[in-house]
Amino acid sequence: MEKTFEKIVSHAKNTGFVFQGSEIYGGLSNTWDFGPYGVSLKDNIKRAWQKKFIQEDPNNVEIQAAILMNPKVWEASGHLKGFSDPLMDCRNCKTRHRADQLIEAYTEGKVTCEGWSKEEMENYIRENKIPCPDCGKHDFTPIRQFNLMFKTFQGTLEDAKSTIYLRPETAQGMFVDFKSVQRAYRKKLPFGIGQIGKSFRNEITPGNFIFRTREFQQMEMEFFCKPGTDDDWFPYWRKFCMDWILSLGGNPENLRFRDHTPEELSFYSKGTTDIEYKFPWGWGELWGIADRTDYDLTQHQNTSGVSMEYLDPYTNEKYIPYVVEPAVGVERLFFMFFTDAYDEETLENGDVRVVMHFHPVLAPVKAAVLPLRKKHGEIAEKIRHELSIDFNVAYDEAGSIGKRYRRMDEIGTPFCITVDDQTEQDGTVTIRYRDTMAQERMTVEEVRAKIAQEIRF
Ligand code: GLY
Repeated sequence: MEKTFEKIVSHAKNTGFVFQGSEIYGGLSNTWDFGPYGVSLKDNIKRAWQKKFIQEDPNNVEIQAAILMNPKVWEASGHLKGFSDPLMDCRNCKTRHRADQLIEAYTEGKVTCEGWSKEEMENYIRENKIPCPDCGKHDFTPIRQFNLMFKTFQGTLEDAKSTIYLRPETAQGMFVDFKSVQRAYRKKLPFGIGQIGKSFRNEITPGNFIFRTREFQQMEMEFFCKPGTDDDWFPYWRKFCMDWILSLGGNPENLRFRDHTPEELSFYSKGTTDIEYKFPWGWGELWGIADRTDYDLTQHQNTSGVSMEYLDPYTNEKYIPYVVEPAVGVERLFFMFFTDAYDEETLENGDVRVVMHFHPVLAPVKAAVLPLRKKHGEIAEKIRHELSIDFNVAYDEAGSIGKRYRRMDEIGTPFCITVDDQTEQDGTVTIRYRDTMAQERMTVEEVRAKIAQEIRF
């Protein structure tokens, strides 16, 4: 069974995980709304991250920084200068293109522009008379660097002094708050500060459904450590991230590490490894683990005049810590787990069932309570309510029991609980397992214990 891009996207839309943003107005390009199951899947991903990266780690803590930050932050971080794409306009049809992508598309990937200067790209496009992909003419403006940060104004005046930016990464919140957290919580190195939150990038070429969007949620951690020990922490966090994905059911065949070449390293990084996933269109970045050295804290110290040095209580040395950063986008993990979970199974009677094999921790609905007949509705509703105190449960009394099982398979509900005559007599229900379709009889209390055990993570 081939998991095509179209199949995955239409399943996400048809089951109400994801809707087009502003749909009744014809949408707004590249925006997506998450429906109730989508929100639940996202929340489960975030909670699983918090649990392993923060709660269970004795060193790490979490913050929530403001999305709007003093513009000096972006001056210090280098984003005002360096966070840009090389753009050219077609003078004929007025479309805008990324110069590197024009070259790469024209040469079908045989030429990559990593590390090329603006002039090198302009010359290549001129010498090869690369045409505009939209109108076929070769008449481009020179390259302009286009900053990817969204700009807005704070207050009532719309001038340069009131210009602020929507953060393009959550990371700077951790750098800016490093001293406050370290002092207030008496943290000793090494320790990490994590954050989950929205970031914004005015991408020129967003796309591939929720893979590259202009508004997205990041889960980032800045792990502060003594210079030199970053060489040990970098592989530690690379492995930790991969193990986290695998423990939630990620298929190892669709995952790999890829080290950045020196040319493609971000301006702040000494070394970066991506965990890549084989998306329906090919390998793409899922998680970036970067050794950011003391770049950011040094920049903030120089720009703000506030010391970012740490006094090592063991050696009495003063130094600016190094930082290893695992950074991942929630929507990409969503897409990955959604794609991995998707399956079409041909049953013995020849029917095909679509089933999402989500790890129970991630499944948006943990169990569905299904009264066999209308008359079992009252007791079934009571069971639904009892279970809903602990878990996200669904209730469905519409259609044949087989149809109701199918609907739950399609959204990946691991347990279906059927209420029948016997339930009234002895308090037992039938539990049906999503993956094997096997059924067992047990009490509601036993069902509760089973679900609790399956979602322990
Ligand atoms: N902080 C790294 C990133 O946003 O990709």
